[in-house]
Amino acid sequence: MKRIISGIVLVTLGVAMAHAAGNATEGKTAYDKSCRNCHGPAGEANPAIAKMMKVDIPNLGSPEVQKMSDEDLSKIITGGKGKMQPMRSVTGKAVDDVVAYVRTLKK
Ligand code: HEC
Repeated sequence: MKRIISGIVLVTLGVAMAHAAGNATEGKTAYDKSCRNCHGPAGEANPAIAKMMKVDIPNLGSPEVQKMSDEDLSKIITGGKGKMQPMRSVTGKAVDDVVAYVRTLKK
């Protein structure tokens, strides 16, 4: 019985950790839907949008963005930053997934 319980605890922990880390593959789907228009396919910003919004859109793969914590990135996605509006289409687990995908854009 003890074995079964510790097995369940381990699996639950594993799921919880996988959740915290996010799933980059699912994140890409959400990114393509919610971020790509402005941030480009590889995070290097869409110049036309930047010009239209009259703002510099930082490269998501740059050291400046990559040095932000997962928490900072999640807050920007859900709360917006400067001229970027909160992305209401990205919620819950999808936020972690998008953050995981943004990590793959690192230069
Ligand atoms: C409508 C266009 C638009 C969309 C959609 C958009 N962003 Fe942004 N994003 C911007 C702009 C513009 C800025 C710069 C804001 C500023 O500095 O005023 C920005 C800034 C950021 C930053 C901060 C970079 C820094 O160095 O400060 C991150 C991180 C970011 N976006 C991630 C995302 C992610 C992830 C998504 C999708 C969930 C997303 N954005 C969707 C336009 C957009």
